[in-house]
Amino acid sequence: MKFKKDYVGYKFMIPKDKLSMFMDENLWPYLFIYLIISNLTANIHNITKQTLIQYKKPKQALWGKQVDIIALQETWLLPTEVPDLGLVNKDFSYFGKSAMDISSGLLGGRPYGGVALLWRNDSFQSVSVIPCVSERIVAIKVCVADRSMLFFSVYMPTNELDNLCEFVECLSEISAIVENENIESIYVLGDFNAHPGKLFGNEMLSFCAEQNWLCADIERLGIDYQSYTYTSDVHGTCSWLDHCLTTMAAWRTVVNVKIHYDVFWSDHFPLEVECNLEWVRPMTIPPNIGNVNKII
Ligand SMILES: *[C@@H]1O[C@H](CO)[C@@H](O)[C@H](O)[C@H]1NC(C)=O
Repeated sequence: MKFKKDYVGYKFMIPKDKLSMFMDENLWPYLFIYLIISNLTANIHNITKQTLIQYKKPKQALWGKQVDIIALQETWLLPTEVPDLGLVNKDFSYFGKSAMDISSGLLGGRPYGGVALLWRNDSFQSVSVIPCVSERIVAIKVCVADRSMLFFSVYMPTNELDNLCEFVECLSEISAIVENENIESIYVLGDFNAHPGKLFGNEMLSFCAEQNWLCADIERLGIDYQSYTYTSDVHGTCSWLDHCLTTMAAWRTVVNVKIHYDVFWSDHFPLEVECNLEWVRPMTIPPNIGNVNKII
């Protein structure tokens, strides 16, 4: 079946067992990539917000084809449905968390929230999941050759004074995890619910200042540029809630930042951060003092 609309969109009904055939990126022209993923929301229940980061050499940019890491927030997945993330794209692996508190044993509707990271299988030599306590944070450590990076996907509470404590706790956990890992290139992607100039926006930027980190999208696009990643149908307002925080080392790899205003997957627009992996500095091996002592 297909319905023609004035914006030229099509809806295909396909049998579930043929999904892998239709999920093949090579089957579709460039523009259809969005549709494939967005159609999938029916299968994976409201992946409503998507932040994408891609690594590649500049000028090879091709949305869909070259995305290597996808950070999702508000997946609304039940714990039993987290494996559905594997259906997003057959070339990707995933790690996700449901926001549902299983211990309570009660399920009142969908578990709002839920975060995940997806990564392209053949882009990295090794990927390991870093344990995070908060249900609002997932993190992976990624290695290519002698270069290592950390990626976070975060979903922060909404901008209210009552939530400030939780907001700060999440940032503290991220900072604690980073301190434990000897990695200088860190990327924190997600829905921070932090509009510049609002309470959480200010909190986020002062966290960056303390850590000597940057908000890559604000740096790149400019604070006065009137960017936004979220539109509220109810209030008719636009806010810039989704961000990518980076360490200075990670910032140096950022080639471009884009907000995809033409992608209507949800009430948030995807944020794309393009980085050049070759600009991540190789890790220097610290001198082994133990051995030096032995030789003496
Ligand atoms: C990618 O990795 C995942 C998890 O390891 C696996 O299930 C999937 O089949 C892999 N995809 C391909 C195309 O090899």
